Amino acid sequence: MNFLKLKSLQVTNFRNLNNDIVHFNSGINCIFGNNGNGKTNLLEAIYYVCLKKSFRKNTSFQQIVSVDSGKPEILISSAFESQNEILTALTGKITSKENQWYQDNKALKSKPKIPVVFINPFDSFSFHTIPAFRRSWVDQNLSLVSEEYKSALSKYNNVLKQRNALLSKKPHKFLEQIKVLDDQMALYSKILIDLRLHFISDLKIYCKETFKIIFDESHDLELKLESKFIDATQDKIKEYFDQNREKDVIIGHTSYGIHRDDYVFLFDGFNSFEFCSLGQQKMSYLSLIFAYIELFRYKFNSYPIVLIDDVSGELDSRRWNNLINYLEAKDFQVIITTANENFKVELEKISNSKKLYIEDGFLK
Ligand SMILES: Nc1ncnc2c1ncn2[C@@H]1O[C@H](COP(=O)(O)OP(=O)(O)OP(=O)(O)O)[C@@H](O)[C@H]1O
Ligand SMILES: [Mg+2]
Repeated sequence: MNFLKLKSLQVTNFRNLNNDIVHFNSGINCIFGNNGNGKTNLLEAIYYVCLKKSFRKNTSFQQIVSVDSGKPEILISSAFESQNEILTALTGKITSKENQWYQDNKALKSKPKIPVVFINPFDSFSFHTIPAFRRSWVDQNLSLVSEEYKSALSKYNNVLKQRNALLSKKPHKFLEQIKVLDDQMALYSKILIDLRLHFISDLKIYCKETFKIIFDESHDLELKLESKFIDATQDKIKEYFDQNREKDVIIGHTSYGIHRDDYVFLFDGFNSFEFCSLGQQKMSYLSLIFAYIELFRYKFNSYPIVLIDDVSGELDSRRWNNLINYLEAKDFQVIITTANENFKVELEKISNSKKLYIEDGFLK
């Protein structure tokens, strides 16, 4: 993985964005503009060049290509600077059929990933209310910091897929195969649970610290894993599978397993969704994300690029200023947007930041 900062970006036919070159500084970059002018689209383009996909779920080429384009082709040109100040040009040509990337004009076989974290205003609510969102948050972010987790998760999901395929056909005929798959499920379950527990205990240390630094208040924040298998050995998990297999044979799919585990977000020991105000939920969620960013830096000795899409809602001006002070003190590159006039005034006060104004896809 390379650790880079975005120096410039030029897109052609990406949603409503104009194709002028946009330059960024290596610290704080603020994007101002009224609703519907292209702030989120710009963050999406940056995310796309970093991870070669959108942060919006199930986004097809047809959705991101400009509706006004004559040619069904998106071009992205970017320059990134590494820690030792070496510039790399990364360009991409995206069509409905293929996605070709070039590094310093050489075609790439694989798609290089540049670490980036995207924070959007709806995620706090989704994180607090949707179990699948929490699971996928942990799976995605833990996979980024642990190859072992990524690999075990992919194997677990593969076995689960095969198991469900057998269960949906003639399960009695495939009982022996299902038993073999269950041994593998138990093996990967144990690995994944241990890594999840490790991850949330690492995060806990940073969560308290980030909440204190950003929001100037002391609170214990903790993700707690809710799983039947928390203290179980691999043999115990296997035993559980043996005892419950018949149920799945009857219903025709896998009804238990660590893919159904959930997490509770605890604020001073209370379920933050039930106990906290919306502003406190937002502060807790932001503290969790920044805790993850710190953990990321601890693992890789470098920060990801941080994209923050208008998070000003629900926070008061004291919290905005705390957040701004926090961002100013950190040396990650951040690109933050707002349509909120009052938050804009606070962001405009940041010295040494780049300020960009977007109107109808044009940045100036
Ligand atoms: N494929 C596309 N081609 C052209 N324009 C598009 C495309 N997809 C979306 N848009 C336009 O992009 C605009 C929305 O941009 P965006 O979501 O970036 O706005 P925003 O500045 O983030 O606004 P807000 O402050 O409300 O979040 C809309 O006007 C929409 O019509
Ligand atoms: Mg937006």
